[in-house]
Amino acid sequence: MPSADEPFALIIFGASGDLTRRKLMPALWSLYAARTLPEPFAIVATARTGLSDDGFRRRMRETVDTFARLKVPSEGVWERFAAAVHYVAGDPADPALYAKLGAKLGELERGRSGAPANRLFYCATPPSLYDDIIANLGGAGLARPVPGGFTRLVVEKPFGRDWESARALGRQLAGAFAEEQVYRIDHYLGKETVQNILVFRFANGIFEPLWNRNHVAEVQVTVAESLGIETRGAYYEEAGALRDMMQNHLLQLLCLIAMEPPLSFDAGPVRDEKNKVMHAIRPLDPCRVEEAALRGQYGAGFAESRPVPGYRQEPGVAPRSATETYAALRLLVDNWRWAGVPFYLRTGKRLARRVSEIAIRFHRTPHSIFRRGPAVVEANTLVIRIQPDEGIALTVAAKTPGPDLRLAPVRLDFRYGEVFGGEPPEAYERLLLDAIHGDATLYARGDWVEEAWQLLGPVLESWAQEPGPALHAYEAGSWGPAEAEGFIARDGGAWRRP
Ligand code: BG6
Repeated sequence: MPSADEPFALIIFGASGDLTRRKLMPALWSLYAARTLPEPFAIVATARTGLSDDGFRRRMRETVDTFARLKVPSEGVWERFAAAVHYVAGDPADPALYAKLGAKLGELERGRSGAPANRLFYCATPPSLYDDIIANLGGAGLARPVPGGFTRLVVEKPFGRDWESARALGRQLAGAFAEEQVYRIDHYLGKETVQNILVFRFANGIFEPLWNRNHVAEVQVTVAESLGIETRGAYYEEAGALRDMMQNHLLQLLCLIAMEPPLSFDAGPVRDEKNKVMHAIRPLDPCRVEEAALRGQYGAGFAESRPVPGYRQEPGVAPRSATETYAALRLLVDNWRWAGVPFYLRTGKRLARRVSEIAIRFHRTPHSIFRRGPAVVEANTLVIRIQPDEGIALTVAAKTPGPDLRLAPVRLDFRYGEVFGGEPPEAYERLLLDAIHGDATLYARGDWVEEAWQLLGPVLESWAQEPGPALHAYEAGSWGPAEAEGFIARDGGAWRRP
């Protein structure tokens, strides 16, 4: 692994896209401003748009002012950062671009004689361009590390759209790169609160003994968004909630909750344990998909008291679209630790609130000695709040003050904001730094990605049929389709209202 102060070049494909604007450049700037970006560095951005270095830098300045966590303190500091940013115009499908990129990298690296040539390529383009980029990087000899340095490739999701296409992408990658060179980003893994799941579980002695079927009754993972699909109609029509969120972010969260302790917090052991969870999830029966999966689509409604259109009225969406904007799954992890504990996962756009959380509900006490209290005391629930209001809360029963013996649930609550103050770093900051340092622990491995597609295969196939299972309508601004309640009530449960 290179030391933190080795030089590197980051080459971004898709430099005029949304991801570069909203996430990558702001994250790179914040790392620089916080003095955590290794130096000297070069950022070589490429896209089809014809732009000069200065033209691109001006655009990035606006982007950083709008989206970065840290503000620009002075023009001088910005100028120093911007001097390391270069722009090369070209078509990623055209091999000529790669000759230009190779020449640019050579020029930058020759300027630092004796230092290793460390290169990090970043695919921030639509996935339809991945094939060309990978093939051209291979063809131009840019996929091979320059002796003494590293060459890595960061790929953004979606990694394929089903098991077959994920395998094809895997083969394509393997044709040009070794698996250790490939970093598949899932930005949920870079969130501070998600990283903390493993710390919470494995750096505290008291939770692990409870973390199993003997004590846990049920796990609910919720990733709710209040936003609609914004301007991403064309992408979302192809993706839907299952591909966009469930196949990656929610299954990753499930794995972090369900996995066994890894030997160490390193890429190999952590990712091996997550794969074991994927292997243990009971395959979904293609004939009984409706018992394990439910889908919905938002209609018109309200978001923050403003009227908003339904999904089918959004730009870029077909008027009779059957794409789901809400998905719920019921999964079972068939192993010694979790046998019989249902894991409910749900995600949706235009839900009542933006909230991501994992709720672990424990068994009730076997018997209540408080005869004069309520007949049923609420079960203890541990809630890991991923965002917003990041924190962890445990509900416990307490005696309310007064002469009578009355019980009420109270929350023992840890809030990141109160304890640590400030804004946590963006997930992309952490993940970019990890890729630069060669640490793949928080990245998805190819075999995990394929397992996730395989698991969801029966649902994807069933939902692709016409007519497929019901696509339940829900009002924008609600908690999803009413039928979702019946879906979970079959086991006697109920969705939480976070
Ligand atoms: C992305 C999805 O992966 O995650 C988006 O493509 C979604 O549709 C986003 O909005 C949510 O990320 P976050 O960090 O805002 O929860």
